[in-house]
Amino acid sequence: MNKKLYIETYGCQMNLADTEIVSALLFESNFELTNHPEEANLILINTCSVRERAEQRIYGRLGFIKKIKEKNKNLIVGIIGCMAERLKEKIITDYPIVDLIIGPDEYRNVTKYLEQVESGEKAVGVELSLSETYEDIEQFHSNGLSAWLPIMRGCNNFCSYCIVPYTRGRERSRSFNSILNEVEKLSNQNYKEITLLGQNVNSYFWNGKDFSDLIETCAKVNRNIRIRFITSHPKDLSEKLLHCIADNENICNHLHLPLQSGSSRILELMNRKYTYEHYYDLIQKARVIIPGISITTDIIAGFPSENEEDHKATMNAIEQIKYDNAFMFKYSPREGTLAYKLEDDVAERVKIFRLSEIINLQQNISKEINDTTVGKIQLVLIEGKNKKNPEQMIGRTDNNKFVVVENNEIKIGDIVRVKIINSTSATLFAKVLT
Ligand code: 5AD
Ligand code: SF4
Repeated sequence: MNKKLYIETYGCQMNLADTEIVSALLFESNFELTNHPEEANLILINTCSVRERAEQRIYGRLGFIKKIKEKNKNLIVGIIGCMAERLKEKIITDYPIVDLIIGPDEYRNVTKYLEQVESGEKAVGVELSLSETYEDIEQFHSNGLSAWLPIMRGCNNFCSYCIVPYTRGRERSRSFNSILNEVEKLSNQNYKEITLLGQNVNSYFWNGKDFSDLIETCAKVNRNIRIRFITSHPKDLSEKLLHCIADNENICNHLHLPLQSGSSRILELMNRKYTYEHYYDLIQKARVIIPGISITTDIIAGFPSENEEDHKATMNAIEQIKYDNAFMFKYSPREGTLAYKLEDDVAERVKIFRLSEIINLQQNISKEINDTTVGKIQLVLIEGKNKKNPEQMIGRTDNNKFVVVENNEIKIGDIVRVKIINSTSATLFAKVLT
């Protein structure tokens, strides 16, 4: 009889893809997935370390899992992903219910570590690799419609606030052919959307081929598949890529380009390797080359030494650029990073206040931009039923906006022409055009 795996995933899309890789490896050892933690033989939590709060959430989950383990003594509990890499054995010392720790470059050995646990020992695999890409492993794509496809792993940028280079190791690109083969396979399986993933996709490089070459080749495989990509770094984003997006109908008109701060002084302390002026220039170029492109970003409020003037620069940048949307965070010191050595000197209440100002401003801008789409015609990929109202479907536009569509006759996977009839800062509402 098959053993049951229950797996929870936190953090970024890369973690979602890694969960599919770990699942595929465990299927080979006779595991099958369950949605019920109470009936699992193995519970894995794929974790994120990017901010303190992400880690606190996991400790909360361990409290819940402890209760399940009290009823099922044979249950194996594993922490995998970035927290596993950052904290290593310490998690087992602090939380004895945890049996297994596996970092992002050690998933290939998951069965070996499980056997170790079954023989009565705790297991810890946290070696980082310079070459592991898992490209030979047949990732278990779980969604049937929209796939996450890692094209590289790790990061070499060492932004001073960021833990990722320490938890995911050095950057390495996956081979061009293995990515292409996977796109072809997904096309044969009738996938409608593929998102190419990397911490910094713009620095993809394989045997003379760069990211533009890769994405263009992927886009040609099947013009009915939407191709997306995340994340871009402003220091590496090329004009060649912008032209490539403009020239290929099925590469989505959306750029996620983290700004982090509008102050060039803070950007330098963050080791971002660009100034605000350079960044603004890039945005201008993107908007000329790809009219109508939607641009989203990440912002950190309250980085060490950030003063009122720096904060105003961030507010001005948001006002000037007018992002479609943004992910906005309070700075969270991460031990081991370069910024950890700087004094975390922006008071918590100031961080909270600045973040709320940033969020309010961005929400108004998102609403303003979304309002301008009312009356316009868009193509929407239908992703599912609206849980709040089963008469409606939900989907996304080409430039990644969330849409509620009034019509339940259309099917998941359909790409439909709609007219936008209403909007909020986060959602568009639309009618299908017949
Ligand atoms: N504190 C707050 N936000 C952070 N991010 C990364 N590290 C930190 C940190 N220490 C944010 C950045 C990044 C996004 C994924 O998370 O904005 O782009
Ligand atoms: Fe993803 Fe970064 Fe979080 Fe790791 S730390 S899960 S790479 S966001």
